[in-house]
Amino acid sequence: MSRRNTTDVPVPTLVTERLILRGITEADAEPYERHFVDYEVIRHLSAEVPWPFPAGGVGAFIRDRIVPVQGQDRWVWGLHRQGVDGVIGAIDLRRYGERKNRGFWLGREFWGKGYMTEAVIRVNDFAFDELGFERLVFANAVGNERSRNVKLRTGARLVGVAPGAFVDPAYTRQEIWELTKEQWLAWRGR
Ligand SMILES: CC(C)(COP(=O)(O)OP(=O)(O)OC[C@H]1O[C@@H](n2cnc3c(N)ncnc32)[C@H](O)[C@@H]1OP(=O)(O)O)[C@@H](O)C(=O)NCCC(=O)NCCS
Repeated sequence: MSRRNTTDVPVPTLVTERLILRGITEADAEPYERHFVDYEVIRHLSAEVPWPFPAGGVGAFIRDRIVPVQGQDRWVWGLHRQGVDGVIGAIDLRRYGERKNRGFWLGREFWGKGYMTEAVIRVNDFAFDELGFERLVFANAVGNERSRNVKLRTGARLVGVAPGAFVDPAYTRQEIWELTKEQWLAWRGR
């Protein structure tokens, strides 16, 4: 397969009504770990994520897996509440994800307030308006209602179900979603 072109677009700081989305750096490791290392968060993620999560693993993950590729066909933001220090979750966009272009998580205490929906809307705008995506593909475990609801609230269309492996072995299938630029512009203008 030929090597695809890499687009270098530095991770911009994005602002929404209640949030600031900033590119993840090693300085985020402590609050990231505090909110992320929680089985109720991690069990919904791809089986590639280790569980139990190794001590110090978040710092190493940010240093080795995120920082070196930030802005090179991959954009990983930490979600910060305006005026409050510390990440409360993260959202990740990638140009060449096989079955998905986006992932996200929020610390459990921040669920149910609309923060991820707010972040997703801003990141979708960035993907379509500034990165030139024509289509985004998403996936979640069948049964991960909160994740599917974020997609439903933001204009994505369910296109299929496939086998999938997640940290929680009870999840064995995944839903595949699509959002084209055309659908997004229609949702935006609704
Ligand atoms: C997926 C995840 C980020 C969704 O979190 P969430 O809090 O349900 O989503 P949002 O932040 O968009 O909040 C939406 C909820 O807030 C409510 N809400 C409150 N104010 C709102 C507002 N201003 N705008 C939108 N929704 C609002 C909505 O009604 C909804 O609640 P409901 O589900 O009880 O109806 C979170 O559950 C999570 O981190 N899960 C574990 C990791 C995971 O599954 N990641 C995705 C893998 S595919």
